[in-house]
Amino acid sequence: MKSKQTNISIFYKGEISKQHVIFVHGFPYDHHMWDSTIDALSDNYYCVTYDIRGLGESDPGDGQYTVEKFTDDLFSIMDEMNLKHPVLIGLSMGGYISLRAIERFESKFKALVLLDTKSEADNNQAKLKRAQGINIINQKGLRSFLEEFIPSCFAEESIKNLGKEYQEVFERSLKYNPLGVKGCLLAMAGRTDTTDYLSKINNPVLVICGEKDTLTPPAVMEEMHRKIKNSSFVLIPGSGHMTPIEQPERVIEEIKKFLMNL
Ligand code: MLT
Repeated sequence: MKSKQTNISIFYKGEISKQHVIFVHGFPYDHHMWDSTIDALSDNYYCVTYDIRGLGESDPGDGQYTVEKFTDDLFSIMDEMNLKHPVLIGLSMGGYISLRAIERFESKFKALVLLDTKSEADNNQAKLKRAQGINIINQKGLRSFLEEFIPSCFAEESIKNLGKEYQEVFERSLKYNPLGVKGCLLAMAGRTDTTDYLSKINNPVLVICGEKDTLTPPAVMEEMHRKIKNSSFVLIPGSGHMTPIEQPERVIEEIKKFLMNL
């Protein structure tokens, strides 16, 4: 369905009477990233996800985004879908949004799952990489950018093992409006740092990281876990940055265990 307030595409599965869970995807992907996770959880949980502004089926609008606006969108969707104390699950860019949402209004949520993400804002080197990404899209087109970026999100072994599924992920991203992709790069470059809030989080938190994640590596995520009082850390062997796609069974098992103990 299309959100009336934000014009964002929202997807849901499961019964509204069950515990609510909301999933926020990473960049440059869309809600399909959660397909197998939601399929596995929707018998016992009301699962809601959506395509972040500019990606997937959501309208790119004017391409002028901020992570703050993405966080407003998350709260609007929660209101519109009548979500009560959902568990918030975010991967990478979805994790940046989730951490900011927790910082803004933690009591709205029951718990948090952070996958392959970090609390630090972009440093100068990362900002320059975003600028270079925008230049590549402008000069050579979206395909060139994706050909460089998407392989860096997956472990080499996973690309081989996923085969056709990896190609489908790539082809889906290729259909996005370049304006939306550039808008997300700018939003991420301008996001705030949420590290100071980590030690203030009271909600239970599960931190999941792919063993071979080079974008948000295990050492960075373990450090984040150490700063969050009520958190546990799980390393997913053999996986890169895209844990729910690369090792769905392991990720589902860990999320199920976490949700059952809430
Ligand atoms: C993501 O997976 O959302 C991105 O890799 C995040 C980023 O580029 O910082």
